[in-house]
Amino acid sequence: MDVYGLLGNPIGHSLSPVMHEAAYAALDLDATYVTFEGDPDRLEAAIEGAAALGVSGLNVTIPFKQAVLDSVEPDDTARHIGAVNTIAFEDDRVTGHNTDAAGVRRAFEYHDVDLAGKRVVLVGAGGAARAIDHVLIEVGCDVSVANRTESRARELTDSLGGTAHGLSALPDLLPDADVLINATSVGMAEDRSPVPEEVLHGDLVVMDIVYSPLETTLLKEAAHAGAETIDGAWMLLFQGTEAFELWTGMDAPVEDMNRALRSELSEYRSGSD
Ligand code: ATR
Repeated sequence: MDVYGLLGNPIGHSLSPVMHEAAYAALDLDATYVTFEGDPDRLEAAIEGAAALGVSGLNVTIPFKQAVLDSVEPDDTARHIGAVNTIAFEDDRVTGHNTDAAGVRRAFEYHDVDLAGKRVVLVGAGGAARAIDHVLIEVGCDVSVANRTESRARELTDSLGGTAHGLSALPDLLPDADVLINATSVGMAEDRSPVPEEVLHGDLVVMDIVYSPLETTLLKEAAHAGAETIDGAWMLLFQGTEAFELWTGMDAPVEDMNRALRSELSEYRSGSD
């Protein structure tokens, strides 16, 4: 049996096992996906141990995404972004990848949104924003990064591209924008949006990376303004389908994984809130 897993600390309630197990069931694969709450002081030992035990692949989350760069051979995308969220173990090699980047691209593609040449406002400058900015620049978007801490936005745009702003620039940036992406944690389990409602408009496509709740205050207000919305489960889904494809070389059963993820999300919310 092939063993895959998620390495993080704390792991909390992870949605990845259900999503990946749904793929194994749909394709009748002899595989399982488990969670590992790794010791933050023994990351390198954890990766070596996984390799020695014959683990086939690991997803990596907080607080290991950056630190793990030193324990793997990162591909160009992961190196450029400065974070790894997926590790593949193959023969003697341990390679690091960042499927958050491809996940964003596929989420837009799935919704028939062509990003090439679009004016995009990206709110946030953390790890998720870095992966998203990398993709946006790669596909030829004109990106404005707006962050609470403007200096952090500048650090991001200096290394990956785009222009840097504080959140107070949003009213100036939004009228001409085609796409708005929230890559902050604002709106997670709270009725708050990082963007003033009055600057939203009907010509926008608005994506939120927050998936709990699925319908964030930002997405509610965007829909009300007539904008197209893409919820946070899409990026989560497609970073997962991308990891699955990297590990198995097979096309991911996207609809099965999506169904499992959304059903788990609705149960999770009704159970925990
Ligand atoms: P991740 O790796 O998930 O992106 P992170 O690196 O902690 O997480 O980044 C969180 C992002 O949310 C940052 O852009 C952060 O803004 P700062 O750089 O100014 O800290 C943003 N963020 C978090 N709480 C926020 C809040 N209350 N208002 C505005 N932005 C917030």
